[in-house]
Amino acid sequence: MAYDLTELGPTTGVEIRGLSGKQIVDPDVADVALDALDRRGVVVFREADVSDDDLVAFSRLLGKVAQLPLGGDGEHPEIQKVTRDASQSKLAAYREGTFFWHIDGTTAEVPDKATVLTARQVSDDDSGDTEFANTYAAYAELSPGQKAEIDGLRVVHSFAASQLLVYPDPDPVEREAWDRNPSREHPLVWTRGSGKKSMVLGSTAERIVGKPDEQSKALLERLLEWSTQDRFVLRHRWRVGDLVIWDNTGMLHRARPYGAQSARLMLRTSLVGEEVVR
Ligand SMILES: [Fe+2]
Repeated sequence: MAYDLTELGPTTGVEIRGLSGKQIVDPDVADVALDALDRRGVVVFREADVSDDDLVAFSRLLGKVAQLPLGGDGEHPEIQKVTRDASQSKLAAYREGTFFWHIDGTTAEVPDKATVLTARQVSDDDSGDTEFANTYAAYAELSPGQKAEIDGLRVVHSFAASQLLVYPDPDPVEREAWDRNPSREHPLVWTRGSGKKSMVLGSTAERIVGKPDEQSKALLERLLEWSTQDRFVLRHRWRVGDLVIWDNTGMLHRARPYGAQSARLMLRTSLVGEEVVR
């Protein structure tokens, strides 16, 4: 199996070229991807051009694939379409929420392990890149004093916090609908079984437990700003066929804004989380 593997930014990202279609659905390729994911957080297969069936089959080689609670957007119950076109996706109306840094599944007890995204169509302008920020690397570079400051803190994550960024002034009916999604408290610093540490931050982070609002907001903002500095960030400019996997337990991510009329269409699978946040 011949392919080229290149490390991308200073801390984050690996690009693999030379494999496409069925070649990717191979346990050895999955092992290479999982190893790169562990070291670098994001793996990009350039112009992989996988079919829907192969996307699901490859995802299964990486871990347990989530069945979507609302059903899939096509014939596969595991595949969600990511687009702003409401005729193609049940969640199109929430797409603007993904323009803010976030981690998927933070209001669940066990956040997703990883996400797989492949581009079927891309915007015809420069919009819709995806950015990833590596909170393992960001945590590792904090000073001992800064680490001590956040050690043991807990954060409440809510759907409402993420929606408020998009719609800062909801009417009471809207607000009530958001609040029907249960919030979830997690440690701010997530220590994996392997000993690696990441930070659970982003748009769902509503407040730090036990801190006054102003202090809580300031610290969450400071940590997000720290984690999203250039040296921790990979920005991916999509080409049709690209397939990208990221470690959702350590990477914040966001889409650069794209318009409601954009042709951008991604297919996504999620891998079920394996470790609770502790
Ligand atoms: Fe996301």
